[in-house]
This record gives sequence, structure tokens and C-alpha cells, in this order.
Amino acid sequence: MRIAIASDHAGFIQKAPIIEQLIALGHEVRDFGPANEDRVDYPDYADKVARAVAAGQADRGILICGTGIGMALTADKIAGIRASVIQTPEFAHLFREHNDGNVLCISGRFTELDINKQIVNEFLTTGFGGGRHAGRVKKIMREDDASFSGVKE
Ligand code: RB5
Repeated sequence: MRIAIASDHAGFIQKAPIIEQLIALGHEVRDFGPANEDRVDYPDYADKVARAVAAGQADRGILICGTGIGMALTADKIAGIRASVIQTPEFAHLFREHNDGNVLCISGRFTELDINKQIVNEFLTTGFGGGRHAGRVKKIMREDDASFSGVKE
């Protein structure tokens, strides 16, 4: 798969080992930065990765900040993106199986690297379940459509 990845300063320390994991698994990785641990603004990096996924330049995105929260809040504003903060491998599995998540947001400060590696693995190896979940995901995505005026009743 083509994976777009980025962090901020708080997630930087986990970015290199996760890139190594991705390469070892045979994925094509595009690192959107940053190049060092200098303080940066996470929305700038979430924007780059989310837009690469939304444009079809990457199949999936991975974002690492202190909590993962700011990355997810930003990425989810880009049309076509389903991003979430994930703290356990089980949630990573369900994020793929039920929600067809395409941008994984993880915490560099509160989740150990070993757990994040398991989360990444689950995110990349679990397929979307389809079936009853497909209609729900379609309903998530209608929120991207400016002509959708909200659920009535
Ligand atoms: C940076 O201090 C921190 O706010 C950021 O990494 C992230 O946790 C935001 O959601």
C-alpha cells in the first residue's frame, strides 16, 4: 500500500520506527515530515497527509501527535477522510472493519511504541466488513456533501 505519514514534535520520536515497520512490511511510504523535533503545528501535517489520501495519492494515512486528537480533528475536516484516534489494536480492527477508516491517528506521548506498532499492523491488515456497515459509512460521508441539509426527523 502507499502510506502517507507525518507527525508533530510530540509524535516525532515514534515516526522513524513506524516508517521502518511499514517498509519492512513492504509498503511504499511517503514521509510528510517534520524532519526534526522542533516545535510545529500539528494541523499543518494532518492537512498534508489527509489531502494526499483524499486525492488518491496515498491509500492510507498515519498521523502521530501527542494525543492523536488534534491530528484527527484536522484530518476529518478534509472531504473523503475518515480519521480517528486509536489507542488499542482492538479499536484499530474495528476502525477498519466497521468504519472503513483511512487515516489512523495515534499518540506519541500516551501509547507505547510497541502498542502503536500493533495498532498500525491491525490498521493495515484488516479489511472493511461491508454489509450493514456500508450504509452507515455512506451516511458518514454524506456530511461531506454541501447539498446535504441534515437528517430530517
Ligand atoms: C502538542 O503539545 C500537542 O498539543 C499535540 O501534539 C497534540 O497532542 C494535539 O492534539
